[in-house]
Amino acid sequence: MRVAIFGTGYVGLVTGTCLAEVGHHVVCVDIDQAKVEGLNRGVIPIYEPGLEPMVKANHAAGRLRFTTDAASAIAHGEVLFIAVGTPPDEDGSADLKYVLAVARTIGRHVDGPAVVVNKSTVPVGTADKVRAAISEELQARGVDHDFDVVSNPEFLKEGDAVADCMRPDRIVIGATRPAAVSRMRRLYAPFNRNRDRIVEMDVRSAELTKYAANAMLATKISFMNEIANIAERVGADVEQVRKGIGSDPRIGWHFIYPGAGYGGSCFPKDVQALARTAQQYGHEPQLLNAVEAVNNGQKGHLFELIQRHYDRGEDEGVAGKTFAVWGLAFKPNTDDMREASSRRLLQQLWDAGARVQAFDPEATHEAQRIFGERDDLRFCDNADAALEGADALVVVTEWKQFRSPDFGRIKAALKDDVVFDGRNLYEPVDIEAAGLAYYAIGRGR
Ligand code: UGA
Repeated sequence: MRVAIFGTGYVGLVTGTCLAEVGHHVVCVDIDQAKVEGLNRGVIPIYEPGLEPMVKANHAAGRLRFTTDAASAIAHGEVLFIAVGTPPDEDGSADLKYVLAVARTIGRHVDGPAVVVNKSTVPVGTADKVRAAISEELQARGVDHDFDVVSNPEFLKEGDAVADCMRPDRIVIGATRPAAVSRMRRLYAPFNRNRDRIVEMDVRSAELTKYAANAMLATKISFMNEIANIAERVGADVEQVRKGIGSDPRIGWHFIYPGAGYGGSCFPKDVQALARTAQQYGHEPQLLNAVEAVNNGQKGHLFELIQRHYDRGEDEGVAGKTFAVWGLAFKPNTDDMREASSRRLLQQLWDAGARVQAFDPEATHEAQRIFGERDDLRFCDNADAALEGADALVVVTEWKQFRSPDFGRIKAALKDDVVFDGRNLYEPVDIEAAGLAYYAIGRGR
């Protein structure tokens, strides 16, 4: 089939590439000329495992093209995806200006019946707004094309996006008319061979499904962080508690890892946006408010542990100390630092007069862009280099390469012999046997 995708950000680029990979002819549109030129030369603007070779192969095969020319893309597409960003505006609601601008562009250029698909994460009711924007433009042109607006939310995880897209566990299609559903079924048929992964529903339910999924996952994380905070006070070990509850299939092993708080472009934004939607419809979302509040508190927890250690007396506090920081990205396998817990931690360390020597396998470039040049920040080329001359180590992101370090080497490098672990990567007995003091999340002290 012929597909047009508006927005070559995370969602648009991965979706477009995977649709090309299964044989569709995809044109990706972006208003950013430099990005489009880069993509046409094989420069991928994000780090995502497996994406680059797939983009290049499909581009070379002529199934994947990048352009700034919206009109030609609209003429090409039997299905028109809207996959542009929905950044939060001041009150946390999703800002629809980019989505509605694409809708207007479609209305201005479309020249036959169309299926318009919302792939961006958008609040309940957005499909109606997209429909109205397209209709207005059609009316202004004095034409009357038949079109559908479908909600087809994405469930990609950064770092696993290509795999999630190629092997989805479900494909949610919110549509009103059978013809639109059958066109979407044809589009997704290559991903839907072994069993039917397509879940059909009405448009508003599909829109809400996306938020419900992310809010449920965020709730699990905040719940576990709350349990970790209780464990810390009552002298229990949250890691043992986690193992003790995960085997219950009603609870499950996923998303029950306590840590330094959830970040990224989705959970913080989506929990807030769903809360705002609830309030707009007259419902105070007490649970969602608590999920967000717990997460905000949790992002400051590593620093609290650091302060607790350094305020113990023999030391003169955090000021003047140098901290090795392992991991800056909001999670492993990405260079994304949006809402990353590391950002809060670094700011707190700097505010307290400390210095940072940071290493992240992928996010250094992004961190340089965010923080710029500062005297109290040095980027290191590897994990060992970050330890050199540091007083203490803080682990913020659970990259695989941080999982089994040489504790003897850490002890030899650090001046204060203390490790703060925001992701519970180590066994307290192992690390303490090496002569290091160890602080983790919800594990005593
Ligand atoms: C999330 C969802 O997992 C995807 O299903 C969804 O499609 C996506 O948002 C989206 O809406 O686009 P993502 O933000 O890429 O995906 O990252 P996750 O792997 O979900 O991690 C989010 C945050 O939660 C990370 O900061 C991670 O460190 C944290 N987390 C995750 C925990 O603290 N504990 C856990 O047990 C799991």
